[in-house]
Amino acid sequence: MLDAVERKIEQYIAELDDKDAEALYRRLPAGKRLRARLILTIAGTSLPVIETAAVVEMIHAASLLHDDVIDDAFVRRGKASLNALYGNKTAIMFGDVLYSKAFHELVAIDRRVARVISNAVVQLSLGERRDVLLGDRFNPDREAYLSMIYQKTASLIEAASEAAAILAGKNPEPYRTYGRNLGIAFQMIDDLLDITQESETLGKPAMHDYEEGKTTLPYITLYERLEEKEKEKLIALHGRRLCPEDQEWILGKMSTLGVLDRCYAEARELVEEAMALMEREGEARLEAIARSMIERNY
Ligand code: FPP
Ligand code: MG
Repeated sequence: MLDAVERKIEQYIAELDDKDAEALYRRLPAGKRLRARLILTIAGTSLPVIETAAVVEMIHAASLLHDDVIDDAFVRRGKASLNALYGNKTAIMFGDVLYSKAFHELVAIDRRVARVISNAVVQLSLGERRDVLLGDRFNPDREAYLSMIYQKTASLIEAASEAAAILAGKNPEPYRTYGRNLGIAFQMIDDLLDITQESETLGKPAMHDYEEGKTTLPYITLYERLEEKEKEKLIALHGRRLCPEDQEWILGKMSTLGVLDRCYAEARELVEEAMALMEREGEARLEAIARSMIERNY
């Protein structure tokens, strides 16, 4: 099923009639295609559905190209990122090409779908900005973290699910909630894996978020559970390069204070709520996708 989406994206890229853009597209690793899988599972494989899935994946790819420039990230999905290979200018401009071609196609699919997806991209952009702003200093505020990851990550997954429900003539509400919960849990798990997995499995440097200034949920939860003196130490390490002893101290504290289990349980609660909603809708395959979310290790 996903093959049809890949072909559609390739068709859109070919329509650009630009050898440079085609070559850059070939350098992009495809990724998990979670958003496309959700759309096809909810709405089937009619042409507007395939087109919507292709457009959403192109928007997602564009956002990652920009994100890697913003985050100074040189590895993406185990390969050199486009900014690492060709510099920031190329990554930004190719992101713009993908993004604008996606919008050009989106407006021709369905007006309601275009409204839902375009609004999500506004949220996505605001969320990325908020992520950067929160990175200025240690952030102990979990509400600020949760609303930022909703905007940065969950908004597009929520919109993909809602758009698919609209195209399939299904009641969008449970699908919206499903997508939102999945999106928030997805980012929570991503933030946990940064701490628990080796770089090779992740396809990007491990324990990098905190060095980058990102106070993700495990760090907020750790902060809440530490003694005063240790809180100061944690804050002092924020945004700095972590030596192996610092990494071990953080990991040790997180494990003895039950931080990782707690964060994992929070993500699992959201996924279970999403699964229960889909059980009610008789959507067994969407339940399975949700389950795979909390079982992944990259
Ligand atoms: C990854 O977060 C980033 C996002 C999910 C959103 C990025 C959004 C933008 C750059 C704005 C929108 C721009 C366009 C062109 C649509 P992360 O850095 O936590 O995850 P990572 O570890 O995978 O990099
Ligand atoms: Mg990033």
